This record gives sequence, C-alpha cells and structure tokens, in this order.
Amino acid sequence: MYPDGLASPYRDRFAAAAAQRYASLGIERADPDRPTKIATLNAAAFGAPAVLFCYLDRTMGPGQWADVGMYLQTVMLLLRAEGLHSCPQVMWTVYRETVSRAVGAEDGLVLFCGVSVGFEKEGVPRLRTGRADMTETVSFIGR
Ligand SMILES: Cc1cc2nc3c(=O)[nH]c(=O)nc-3n(C[C@H](O)[C@H](O)[C@H](O)COP(=O)(O)O)c2cc1C
Repeated sequence: MYPDGLASPYRDRFAAAAAQRYASLGIERADPDRPTKIATLNAAAFGAPAVLFCYLDRTMGPGQWADVGMYLQTVMLLLRAEGLHSCPQVMWTVYRETVSRAVGAEDGLVLFCGVSVGFEKEGVPRLRTGRADMTETVSFIGR
C-alpha cells in the first residue's frame, strides 16, 4: 500500500494517525491481535453497508492517479451533500485479486482503493485524526 522504507515524516504521521484511529475503535498498539483486528474491521468496511471500488486503466501515469484522487474527493463531497459519510480504504488493494473477481473487473484495470459508504452511527465518540500543522506542509512564497 505504501513504498518500502517509507521515510520520516510520512512514516511517523501514518503511524500516529493509525494509532489514533484504531485506539478510538478499542484496538491498542500493544494488542498482539492488532493486525488481525485491523484487517477484520477494514474488510467489514467499518460496518458500512456499501463499498465503491475505484479502478483506473493500468497504462495511466502519476498525473492520472492524481486525477483519480481528485475525482474521488468530489464523490465523497457529493455523498456528504446526500447526507452520507464515506471512508477511503487503500487496504482493499491487498485483496485486489479477490475484489476484482467479485466485481468482475476487466483485465487492464488496476484497483486504486475502496470507499466505504454509509450513514454515520449516532452516539459514537467522533474521532478526527490529527493533522500536521500547515507550516510543516505548505510553503507560501511571495506576498
Ligand atoms: C486514499 C486513502 C486511503 C485510505 N485507506 C485507509 C485504509 O485502508 N484503512 C483505514 O483505516 N484508513 C484509511 N484511510 C484513512 C481514512 O479513510 C480517513 O481518511 C482517516 O481516518 C481520516 O479521517 P477523518 O478525516 O475523519 O479524521 C485512507 C485515506 C485515504 C485518503
């Protein structure tokens, strides 16, 4: 899902976000069954009743992968406009052969990610994972 040897600060941010998200779901870092529990939650689409699977043509390059990310962001905003919530899950790519068989994806398509879709469960403590400060991620040049 991520490049081998993912460097800092990306690796640290990824680990921190995952720790927050899964701790909020009752899975602590020290839990020996953590990987299995995480995989199970993801594969259950976090309880959502529907999953979109987003593919692109295998011949496409980095620019088109970026296009697909922007496209999916728009889909997620449109879902909000309909009162729905969603969660992109790159984890589905680990099971890409099974997913492609299940959805009948044509040869030549590559799975980008799944997006779980459903209505927010009321009454569950809402976690907003931390974000790096804007000064770490954005450079403003000029006035
Ligand atoms: C492209 C993409 C793939 C993701 N894949 C996963 C995933 O496989 N499993 C997971 O738990 N979170 C995954 N995430 C993170 C969550 O979908 C979500 O964005 C994150 O928890 C932040 O949620 P928040 O904005 O409500 O704080 C992914 C995010 C993106 C943008």
